[in-house]
Amino acid sequence: MILVTGGTGYIGSHTVVELQKAGYPVVIIDNLSNSNRDVLDGIERITGIRPEFVEADCTDMDAVSGLFDKYPGIKGIINFAASKAVGESMQKPVLYYRNNLNTLMNLLDQMAVRGVKGIVFSSSCTVYGEPDVNPVTEQSPIKKATSPYGNTKQISEEIITDVINAGAPFKSVILRYFNPVGAHPSAEIGELPNGVPQNLIPFLTQTAIGIRKELSVFGNDYNTRDGYCIRDFIDVVDLAKAHVIAVERMLTDKSEAKIEIFNLGTGNGLSVMELINAFESATGVKVPYKIAERRAGDIEQVWADPTYANEVLGWVADTPIEDTMRSAWKWQQRLRERGIM
Ligand code: NAD
Ligand code: WQD
Repeated sequence: MILVTGGTGYIGSHTVVELQKAGYPVVIIDNLSNSNRDVLDGIERITGIRPEFVEADCTDMDAVSGLFDKYPGIKGIINFAASKAVGESMQKPVLYYRNNLNTLMNLLDQMAVRGVKGIVFSSSCTVYGEPDVNPVTEQSPIKKATSPYGNTKQISEEIITDVINAGAPFKSVILRYFNPVGAHPSAEIGELPNGVPQNLIPFLTQTAIGIRKELSVFGNDYNTRDGYCIRDFIDVVDLAKAHVIAVERMLTDKSEAKIEIFNLGTGNGLSVMELINAFESATGVKVPYKIAERRAGDIEQVWADPTYANEVLGWVADTPIEDTMRSAWKWQQRLRERGIM
């Protein structure tokens, strides 16, 4: 059985679907701080299987320990549970350090005494900051974090490394995601942004459907091919599939290494304007936008060299961006049909 923390969240829910499709029984722990229980229905509509669900906070050691008592068959963990809003982390750093780090440390403590074979950790390309060279490999330098959120990812990677180097009886795979976008093609699950979206795709789809008047494109004077920021937008289902391979790798001891780090991206950088164009051509829907000031703290350009993940995991993110844009749009329309937004 696989424990998925934060499994009703955006990436977690897509990963639960892929785990179930691969035959793994799943138990989710989530405190529903940034997701909701209906996600379980969406997962069940896709796979026909309702995952086990425990509503609890991973920072609560008694709750985590109780969960292992109830599900003694847990062999692997995927730790998605975290607070993830960069801007909010600048306002509430203690909340971010406490939530993200205590969650991880509780899990590591329990793993050691419960016979769990490995933990997959959700890290981020944010650890590379503004890279000197693109694309970035796993060996590219880690830059000083520019937000408490980003710092929690760096510190978490260090905590895991220290615990494994101290001889912990389990393995870890650290996955550095680039920019996950899109939704399950069934539109049964997707990203549920809280309030006004800060991220590009939810803001774009909400604008396309008329919730927002126009999309502000933050800056057109960057030193890039068209002046707009460049990112590596990766389809969330492609991303989810990499987790299944990572889990399999730990449980079957495919690798000698006790700790491994992989970039999860497509290898293609797309500019913000290229993404807007891809959305419009894939859906036939126009997105009203205006060029606005640069957003403070934005990285100019970052995209992945995913060669290591491609070769070692035998995984590749190959969903065409147009398909991803259609899934994002279908999900936005589904939210409207359901009267959610
Ligand atoms: P999300 O907010 O949709 O999912 C996180 C889930 O964790 C939510 O359901 C939330 O309710 C739950 N949660 C938070 N704190 C918890 C706690 N203490 N106990 C139990 N549940 C808790 O976020 P997501 O986009 O699915 O991100 C998943 C992971 O991937 C996070 O660790 C995030 O930092 C990381 N990540 C995300 C992105 C991205 O752009 N979405 C990029 C890189 C890394
Ligand atoms: C993408 C591009 C914006 C909104 C964030 C986190 C990072 C990682 C992924 C977790 C940028 C532009 C955006 C808008 C715009 N998360 N934009 N108008 O900043 O790459 O990364 O999510 O680990 O840590 O910082 O993602 O979607 O916010 O922005 O023009 O309304 O879209 O300027 O160039 P970002 P994003």
